Amino acid sequence: MSIQRRDFLKGLTSIAAIASLPLNASASKKANVEQHWLSVAPYLQNPGADEMTIMWQTSSASFSRVEYGLTQDLGQVAHSFINGQKQANNTLNSIRITELTPGQSYFYRCVSKEIISYEPYEVKFGTEHFTELKSFRCLDPNASDDFSVIFFNDLHDNLKLTQDLTRNNPAKDFSFSVFNGDCFNDPMGEEAVLDSLCVYNESVDAANIPPLYIRGNHEIRGAYARNLPQHFANPGNSLYYSFTHAGVRFVVLDTGEDKPDDNEGYSGLNHFEPFIIEQAAWLKEEIASNQFKEARFRVLIHHIPLYGNDKTYSGDYNIGKTHWGEMLKDAAVDLAISGHTHTHKIHKVGDEGNPYPVVIGGGRRDSSGTLTSLAFTQEQIQIKMYGSKGQILRQYNIMERS
Ligand SMILES: [Fe+2]
Ligand SMILES: [Fe+2]
Repeated sequence: MSIQRRDFLKGLTSIAAIASLPLNASASKKANVEQHWLSVAPYLQNPGADEMTIMWQTSSASFSRVEYGLTQDLGQVAHSFINGQKQANNTLNSIRITELTPGQSYFYRCVSKEIISYEPYEVKFGTEHFTELKSFRCLDPNASDDFSVIFFNDLHDNLKLTQDLTRNNPAKDFSFSVFNGDCFNDPMGEEAVLDSLCVYNESVDAANIPPLYIRGNHEIRGAYARNLPQHFANPGNSLYYSFTHAGVRFVVLDTGEDKPDDNEGYSGLNHFEPFIIEQAAWLKEEIASNQFKEARFRVLIHHIPLYGNDKTYSGDYNIGKTHWGEMLKDAAVDLAISGHTHTHKIHKVGDEGNPYPVVIGGGRRDSSGTLTSLAFTQEQIQIKMYGSKGQILRQYNIMERS
């Protein structure tokens, strides 16, 4: 474990004390403030109108559950099930809570009981560990509230930049956050991934507000690339999906690699064109859906921009644009938000032949990194792009279509 993550975990107790709500008497009695049993503290994933996934990772094999409820007394329990069994003897936990109420807030805590030995006819359990009490709020597709979302991209494991962007940023009140690709730099193993994941999660208060982790081209490279998705939960376990919050339709796409599958750097292991075509068929249905057509705003989220891309490494290759561009032209998209170029820009309609505004976040360096806030009001999307000192770099408003 790196010094950075060890220090972070050591600091969890005090962070949790600040971030979490007070425990009631019985929960407090049980609470174990020794956090050494956690490799990754709880973080929310895959937010839904009536569902939420809680993920966390223990340092040794355990049997885990989530306790949750409308009050701090909790009262309900969720497990993960696998082929007729409760999930157990594992370290990476992903537990889905279902049958919730849209827009409702819930309290929860994670519980992991160590497994000392696992024999065919007897399992011996050790210490039972409890996290601090946390809370989350379900999405509400039909709400008419104003809300905001914050975006990061291309952090490339620059953890100091991440901390600076969040520490100095005035955009504190948000419904969810998005890491829009290239935040895990060419992942080679679990340790480096967890080091960054802990800092990213902490920076956006992921135990209480869900982050979305989107795949960029640098999450595709490296020996651990195929393992990375197991640390996250998405609708249908897919890397492309859509959802609605407060009348705004968000469509997440996976733009794959920035060069053709037969590029020698990929060693014959890539097969992205069929994957992009598969998404095209799904996108066609998405665009035709009532949820998309009737939304107040429609926002595309994907790592490589279809318009305003950097041609330094890719030339004219842009496989997402090739297969999705035509159908998106007439789809009444209000905004696309991307990264990848490491140069922050806001392209108004037509600047790059784009049929909708395109926001591109900045780069991996302290001087170029950005946090982008999208505030959705009843009439407009207010875009503000902040630098690592909290300064506003760019801003632009998009009015609702008449
Ligand atoms: Fe990047
Ligand atoms: Fe990229």
